[in-house]
Amino acid sequence: MNERKTLKINQDGHLEIGGVIARDLAKEYGTPLYVMDQQYIEDMCSIYAKTLQDEYGDGMIAYASKAFSCKEIYRIVNAMGVGADVVSGGEIYTALKAGFPMEKVCFHGNNKTLQELNLAVKEKVGLIVLDSYSEADILNDICKNAGVFQKVLIRVNPGVEAHTHHFIQTANIDSKFGFSIVSGEAEEMILHVKSKSNLDLQGLHCHIGSQIFEQKSFVLAVNKMTDFYKMLKDRHGIEFPVLNLGGGFGIWYADGDAKKKLNDYAEYIKIIAKELKKAVVEKGLIKPFLILEPGRSIVGEAGVTLYTVGRIKTIRDVKNYIAIDGGMFDNPRFALYQAKYTVIPAERAKETPALKYTIAGKCCESGDIIAEDVYLPNMNEGDLIAVLSTGAYNYSMSSNYNRNLIPPVVMVKDGKSRYAVKPQTYEDIIRNDI
Ligand code: LLP
Repeated sequence: MNERKTLKINQDGHLEIGGVIARDLAKEYGTPLYVMDQQYIEDMCSIYAKTLQDEYGDGMIAYASKAFSCKEIYRIVNAMGVGADVVSGGEIYTALKAGFPMEKVCFHGNNKTLQELNLAVKEKVGLIVLDSYSEADILNDICKNAGVFQKVLIRVNPGVEAHTHHFIQTANIDSKFGFSIVSGEAEEMILHVKSKSNLDLQGLHCHIGSQIFEQKSFVLAVNKMTDFYKMLKDRHGIEFPVLNLGGGFGIWYADGDAKKKLNDYAEYIKIIAKELKKAVVEKGLIKPFLILEPGRSIVGEAGVTLYTVGRIKTIRDVKNYIAIDGGMFDNPRFALYQAKYTVIPAERAKETPALKYTIAGKCCESGDIIAEDVYLPNMNEGDLIAVLSTGAYNYSMSSNYNRNLIPPVVMVKDGKSRYAVKPQTYEDIIRNDI
């Protein structure tokens, strides 16, 4: 476990998060329950924003809200002076309703709908990141009609191969995202957008993938992007004032992942800042406003999911299953990416592990697993277990599969807890059914 002040095992072997004992949260709110450590989120935002300021200067951290989106998170990151990356009308709407300043929003997506583009222009989203010719044409028409000169970026693919699960790699040559620099398609798209009357092309965006630990991947991305900026300057006299390098910083989930302390995360920003400052001088470029979009690393380790143990099934000499009251409907990441998690017996964390368990969800599907090969003390029905590092891409990827209810989200800070997202009810589930 990657312990810290706001996530620890107390003397009695109880898991404590944000100064609240997990068992007390389970008693008050029930399980399954997403618990978010607000202090951790705030600390990550401020460390990132400060490091960017100190090590680079002009720039913005835009929290990638696909990692965890609800009104409260937009309020929290906004209070910390951080912008947001959004990828759908739903995320724009949520941010808007939370009072998030739209000029600090960066809107991505490989297939934004007409409705979403209209909403973005109407609500004055700061930057729209273009990912196709027709999108540029449509957006230009919308802006012309509205009498708006919209700031845009173009998503490019720098061709950096990052070592992560192939579903979350995004800059390989065959990616559905962005225009390839190598093939010349990015350059053609830039000239196309430059010719548009109502689009103000501010620069380029890339995102090389997610859950990346290797710093050299980010260094490589900086170099490929600045080489391209230099080529555009030399060949076309184009100089961009903005560069957006996306997110993707790896976090701790389980044994084998680096255990980073809050300050260690700043290293990702430092490396990028240092490399970019050097590259702009060497290549004779104007120093661009730097946007970085971490999502997972801001909220991932902040989250803990609490479950109650239900049926326990032992297949003699084969496997011990613990079935919990959640599953792939609140955390589909094992099913999708064979993701690894750390599981803690939340009230007996100091006991010696006795057996190897597989933690199974309650969905009608064999692949509905949360974690495999977990060593725990002998578990009983009714025991509380905690799965760590579930703050990113869990609630945001949850579903009502099998008509299970999406668990509520509780924020904890300084020994106090409150709902950020209320529990669903069966009425919510049938609300739109005819
Ligand atoms: N910017 C862009 C354009 C992105 O596409 C993403 C993530 C990010 C920023 C944030 O990346 P992060 O810092 O969170 O790694 N569902 C997958 C992750 C998909 C990430 C998609 N894009 C998972 O559960 O691992």
